[in-house]
Amino acid sequence: MKNIVIIGATSAIAIETAKYFAKEGAKLFLIARNHDKVMAAANDLLVRGAAQVGTDTCDLSNIQDHQQIVTNSNDFFGSVPEAVLIAYGTLPEQKRCESDSNYAIQEFTTNGTSVISLMMLFGEEMRKVGSGTIAVISSVAGDRGRGSNYLYGSAKGAVSLFSQGLRNSLFKSGVKVVTIKPGFVDTPMTKDVPKNPLFATAEEVGVSIAHAMKSGKNVVYVPFFWKYIMMIIKSIPEAIFKKLSL
Ligand SMILES: NC(=O)c1ccc[n+]([C@@H]2O[C@H](COP(=O)([O-])OP(=O)(O)OC[C@H]3O[C@@H](n4cnc5c(N)ncnc54)[C@H](OP(=O)(O)O)[C@@H]3O)[C@@H](O)[C@H]2O)c1
Repeated sequence: MKNIVIIGATSAIAIETAKYFAKEGAKLFLIARNHDKVMAAANDLLVRGAAQVGTDTCDLSNIQDHQQIVTNSNDFFGSVPEAVLIAYGTLPEQKRCESDSNYAIQEFTTNGTSVISLMMLFGEEMRKVGSGTIAVISSVAGDRGRGSNYLYGSAKGAVSLFSQGLRNSLFKSGVKVVTIKPGFVDTPMTKDVPKNPLFATAEEVGVSIAHAMKSGKNVVYVPFFWKYIMMIIKSIPEAIFKKLSL
C-alpha cells in the first residue's frame, strides 16, 4: 500500500498506523484540524521513511468541506488514493448529551454523520476506478447501546452499519471496506478513564490497523479478544442488560 490518506491524522492511534506505512516508504496525505500538530507528524513521518507527506487542515465536522478534501487528496496523488483511513473522533460527555441536545447532535455529527460523509465520497471515487480500501475506526461501543455512553455508541453503531452496507455495495467494483472496532486504548481520548488490564497501547492498535488494511479484512476487533467479549455482551437478553448499569 503506497498512496494513503489519513483523516484525523493527529490521533494517537492514526499516528502509529502512519508510522508503520512510513517505514514501508508510502506516500501519505494527512488531514487534521490542528496545523502545528499535523506538520509535526508530517516531519516525523518523513524522517521515518515516508516517500512524501502532504498535509491539509480541516475541522472534519464541517461536512461542506469534505468534497474539497477529496479533490485535494486526488491532486496530491495525481489519482484516486489506494487507501483511506478515517480515524478522528471524540468521547462525548454522556450526561451533558442528555441535557444539551445541540451538544449531543454536534458530537453525533463528529463521530457519526461526518464520518459517513467521508466514507461516501471516497467510496464513490474508488468505485469509479474499481479499486481501493476504505478503513474506518468505529468502536466496540457501537455493538450495543449502553446507558453510560449511548451517544458515542450510537454514532459508532451508525458508522459500523454504514460501513457494512458500503462494503456490500462496493464489493463487485473491487473496493474493500474495513471496519475496525477497538476496545479500550490508552490515548488522549481516554486520559480521564480509569485504566484496567483490558487497555491496549496505541502502537499495538495502530499496527493491527495497518495489517487489517493490507489484508482487506471486513471487520477487525483490536485486540482480537474483544470479538469474544462483545459476543458475550451482545448475547445478554435486553431484560437483564438494562438492569446492569453498564
Ligand atoms: N481510545 C480508545 O479507547 C478508543 C476505543 C475505540 C475507538 N476509538 C476511536 O479511535 C479513533 C482515534 O482515537 P484516539 O484514541 O487515537 O484518540 P485521540 O488521540 O484523542 O485522537 C482523536 C483525534 O480526533 C481529532 N478530532 C476530533 N474532532 C475533530 C474534528 N472535528 N475535526 C478534525 N479532527 C478532529 C483530534 O484532533 P485534535 O488533535 O486536533 O484534538 C485527534 O487527532 C477515534 O475514532 C475513536 O473514537 C478509540
